[in-house]
Amino acid sequence: MRPKIDVSEIETGVVGLGMMGTSIAVALCIAGHPVKAVAPIAHELENARKSIARQLQHADASGLLQQPISFYMNRIRLSEDYFVFQNCRLVLECVIEDKAAKARVYRKIAAATGTDTVISSNTSAIPVSDLQEMVPEPGRFLGIHWAEPAYMTRFMEITKGIRTEDRYADWVYQLAHQWGKEPTFLQKDIRGFVTNRLMYAVYREIFHLVAKGETTIADADKAFRYDAGSWMTYMGIFERMEQQGLSDFSKIFQRIFPKLDNSTEVPQLMQEMVKTKVKGVQQARGLYTYTREEAAAWEKSFAEFNKEIYQLADQYQKIKNE
Ligand SMILES: NC(=O)c1ccc[n+]([C@@H]2O[C@H](COP(=O)([O-])OP(=O)(O)OC[C@H]3O[C@@H](n4cnc5c(N)ncnc54)[C@H](O)[C@@H]3O)[C@@H](O)[C@H]2O)c1
Repeated sequence: MRPKIDVSEIETGVVGLGMMGTSIAVALCIAGHPVKAVAPIAHELENARKSIARQLQHADASGLLQQPISFYMNRIRLSEDYFVFQNCRLVLECVIEDKAAKARVYRKIAAATGTDTVISSNTSAIPVSDLQEMVPEPGRFLGIHWAEPAYMTRFMEITKGIRTEDRYADWVYQLAHQWGKEPTFLQKDIRGFVTNRLMYAVYREIFHLVAKGETTIADADKAFRYDAGSWMTYMGIFERMEQQGLSDFSKIFQRIFPKLDNSTEVPQLMQEMVKTKVKGVQQARGLYTYTREEAAAWEKSFAEFNKEIYQLADQYQKIKNE
């Protein structure tokens, strides 16, 4: 049994109150931490408050809350002043993917906290070892990579930079279990971490097949959804190979690997999407054609799905751990 940490006295901070920052603030609060949430840019607080309230309602409707929503709202203190972090043991940076902006934020966090406050980034792609150099006492810096919605996903990657000290990484790894995560731990900050490397290999291949006219976007999505989607929440890729029997894989690797795309260019179709400035479901314009109502219905049903998959993963995790 993993020893339990009493998180109710461990103050945590979040900087950056966009999509991920608000979601992470909600996740930490539901897990039991008092949370200080700082908006690094002006005029963000009101939207952040609404976004946090909306996400708490979602969590409540999904059965994740043990107390009324107001209890959690009162434990998340929103501010524009970094000095609310003064008693935080952990501060999570969730600002735009821009090194200079992150550096400015780290300076302000460091000025407001003690030298053993753990500072982390939710970066998806910037090397943790680079970000670490922007922080005084870099041994306390690491990557904590969340998935959205942060309060209802099991995924988390905890990544050490070259100079991260084990004692901080081990503490965060232990805490993450209390946040309801099944964290993966990376000793080294390989580019794209694990999850992005896996997914980008799939993105490259699928754009390649669509560009060659071998399949359509809709059929590629169907194949992915009904094949990988039928087992992924239950097991990982190695577990899947194990379950299928390992004997045939070697022969298939030999046949298929040489056929896979290994281009390093941005796929043409994605270049066109960027040129025409379409962003997908947020704008109801993208790789698919749909109305605004259909886009809204899609977002709503995905929120519902998140809840069910979160519960399903939990149910089967218990069976596998028994
Ligand atoms: N969106 C995702 O699914 C996802 C998943 C994992 C990791 N991430 C990472 O999390 C971080 C935040 O992503 P997001 O999706 O929440 O972005 P977002 O655009 O929703 O929010 C970014 C926030 O950054 C802050 N910000 C904006 N301009 C700034 C500036 N000039 N200086 C300082 N702060 C500024 C603001 O608080 C803003 O709300 C990024 O590093 C991103 O790569 C995102």
